[in-house]
Amino acid sequence: MLSSKVTSALNKQIEMEAFSSQYYLSMASWAETQGLNGIAGFLYKHADEERMHMLKLIKFVNERGGHGIVPALKQPPATFKSVKAVFEEVLKHEVKVTTEINNLVEITLKEKDYTTHNFLQWYVSEQIEEEALSRQIVDKMKLIGEDKGGLYFFDRDLEGIAASGSAGAEGKPAK
Ligand code: FEO
Repeated sequence: MLSSKVTSALNKQIEMEAFSSQYYLSMASWAETQGLNGIAGFLYKHADEERMHMLKLIKFVNERGGHGIVPALKQPPATFKSVKAVFEEVLKHEVKVTTEINNLVEITLKEKDYTTHNFLQWYVSEQIEEEALSRQIVDKMKLIGEDKGGLYFFDRDLEGIAASGSAGAEGKPAK
């Protein structure tokens, strides 16, 4: 059984994952309008993954006798300065998510809730991957700079990553 403190902390995380999904969805839609289909595909997939992170939390809260609350939709920014700015935002956002996951882990320890602590380890590992991938992309964007040709190839690269499933769980090979 979840304590009310853990339930409310998990519900706050549900809200954060939902917002992450909306945020990346907005980035994807913007990238698509710029003709950057590889980047858009990668971000659409990332948005789906964040929804899965939210869903996993809702189901866990409900299984443990709590109530996973579906949050209101907050409007994310609709336009972005550049592709580089988009990925800098992704990285900044993922670092924020990691901090929140760490705070959540700390709450479970204080509350002696080892089941939730164990459940959260999946999110701890996931954040390592997501931060590393975002950092890698930001570094690539720095290398590309203002080079339009570089951006074209980068867009194609991301199309490959999204298709191969390296962006995460959604891309598992079909049976
Ligand atoms: Fe679910 Fe990217 O944090």
